[in-house]
Amino acid sequence: MVKLLSPDYLANVTMRAPGIKATQRFYEANWGLVLAEETADSLYFRGTSAEPFIYGLREDSTFGLDAVTFHVADLARLEALHRQLSETGVRLQGPLLAQTTPGGGIGFSALDPDHRRLRFVTGVTPRPAAGDEVARPRKITHVVLNSARGDDFVAFYTSCLGFRISDYSAEQMVFLRCASDHHAIALNRSPYASVNHVAFEMPGIDSFMRGIGRMKTLGQAPAWGPGRHGPGNNPFAYFVSPSGFVIEFTTEVQQIDEAHHQPQVWPRDVPEKLDVWMTAGPPTPAMRAVMQGRPDPGFPEG
Ligand SMILES: [Fe+2]
Repeated sequence: MVKLLSPDYLANVTMRAPGIKATQRFYEANWGLVLAEETADSLYFRGTSAEPFIYGLREDSTFGLDAVTFHVADLARLEALHRQLSETGVRLQGPLLAQTTPGGGIGFSALDPDHRRLRFVTGVTPRPAAGDEVARPRKITHVVLNSARGDDFVAFYTSCLGFRISDYSAEQMVFLRCASDHHAIALNRSPYASVNHVAFEMPGIDSFMRGIGRMKTLGQAPAWGPGRHGPGNNPFAYFVSPSGFVIEFTTEVQQIDEAHHQPQVWPRDVPEKLDVWMTAGPPTPAMRAVMQGRPDPGFPEG
């Protein structure tokens, strides 16, 4: 069997929503990001890694995901990934083009089975790495996506994009990786397509707790957490952004050894398997509703 190419890592996530400029201060002062670039309709924020930006917001009348961007190591791999996707019948959004987001580079877009926009880029100019700073997110580590087309979703990410399955949460969730992080993308089976949450990685447990502390001091306790997940073994604290998106502080995400890892099915009826520290309890019905989010129509083909 020919080994499928996968992108090399999750680089950034961009959301779209009305009134995004009014949320800039929240992401800087409360969440701990730094504004990298502002355009007429978008805000781009960086973390402490060398990525030119890790999180973007684009002004739009629709609430949802604008794009998930993956980095590909070089042009030859990017071209091969483009070819792999076109050969597996994926909806590609045109040829390789120069990118206009911070850091530039060259890339292309494709749509997943729920018409979400995925971008694949290479040649991005890194910024000088700041190095880890206390309580400031380093990078985006994962995005959890709600989908009513779970089987198509998993087939797309594994058979077209080369992701590997790390674990399952009973029948409900599938955790998928393209690098050593336990998951870059996860499926949550749902009545309709939407974004469940985006997770920001803190450099360590002390920064994770201090980030929660800063949020609390500024008037916002976690909507769920802190706790530690079973699958991925990562500490979690979920908050609701001013636009109503669920965002997570996490750290210490399980690193997968490709040679030896075997996916396991985690039960959902054993509390300590869902909430290892037994500090968080299950999410409230209100939190579940926010994590289900608004229906996300995605993007048209073409
Ligand atoms: Fe998460």
